[in-house]
Amino acid sequence: MENHPPVRVERRPVTEDESRRANGPDWDRYADEYQSTHGEFLGDIGFVWGPEGLTEAEAGVLGDVAGRDVLEVGSGAGQCSRWVRSQGGRAYGLDLSFRQLQHSRRIDQDTGVVVPSVLGTATALPFADDSFDVVFCSFGALQFVSDIADAVAETARVLRPRGRYAFSITHPTRWMFPDDPSEAGLVASQSYWDRTPYVEVDDATGRVSYVEHHRTLGDWVGLLAGHGFVITDLLEPEWPEHHDRVWGGWSATRGQYTPGTAIFGARLG
Ligand SMILES: C[S@@+](CC[C@H](N)C(=O)[O-])C[C@H]1O[C@@H](n2cnc3c(N)ncnc32)[C@H](O)[C@@H]1O
Repeated sequence: MENHPPVRVERRPVTEDESRRANGPDWDRYADEYQSTHGEFLGDIGFVWGPEGLTEAEAGVLGDVAGRDVLEVGSGAGQCSRWVRSQGGRAYGLDLSFRQLQHSRRIDQDTGVVVPSVLGTATALPFADDSFDVVFCSFGALQFVSDIADAVAETARVLRPRGRYAFSITHPTRWMFPDDPSEAGLVASQSYWDRTPYVEVDDATGRVSYVEHHRTLGDWVGLLAGHGFVITDLLEPEWPEHHDRVWGGWSATRGQYTPGTAIFGARLG
């Protein structure tokens, strides 16, 4: 990750509590840089599923959102939800980071397209059962959560029967490679099946300061099926020709060989 205090990197188990206590403040620290670096690419009223730039207008994973109640989990500055609103959907945001939500409010005011948003976590959604027709995450929340079964169960709970669930994550196969946009990031060095979380520990305090969790493709299929979802899509966007943007470990160099993003689409029941 960018702009972090000096940290040491480890692979070791971490609890949900540790993950949340690390990642909330980490996103608060990182939010200003994240929005100034990526805000233009995301678009204030724009829905991209990942660094390849595939838009929801192209992918159509959510289906027609007009007139639907839609929740974005890990909504950040609400760009995707604002696009859903522009299409006639009633989108709401939820995010763990107060600073990300302040950016959301800023863009609400700049654009006049307001995304009502709440501070919270994916594993304990503050909504009644059967509240939404669609729940989605664009690189939001899921890879930062330890208790992933709780996050999927919460989504199933707040969705109405036959509701739609879609999310993008770092493609699970990327966990085999160093997070490096150059050719060095094309040489497998870690086991795909090693689910031990990626952890950054603050050198000064010894506290866990950032966590990411890995699940294999098979884990995701089992999680979704186990919570009553029928999987309808698994998109693996190709790196577009002439797309030369580098975003963390994502780049044209790696993108021409290996997928960087996985987008799951599913329906309840
Ligand atoms: C990569 S950003 C994606 C945000 C937005 N979708 C975008 O494309 O900019 C990930 C977001 O997930 C949020 N997040 C991390 N852990 C979370 C959790 N447990 N519950 C809800 N949101 C979380 C972060 O605060 C951050 O805003």
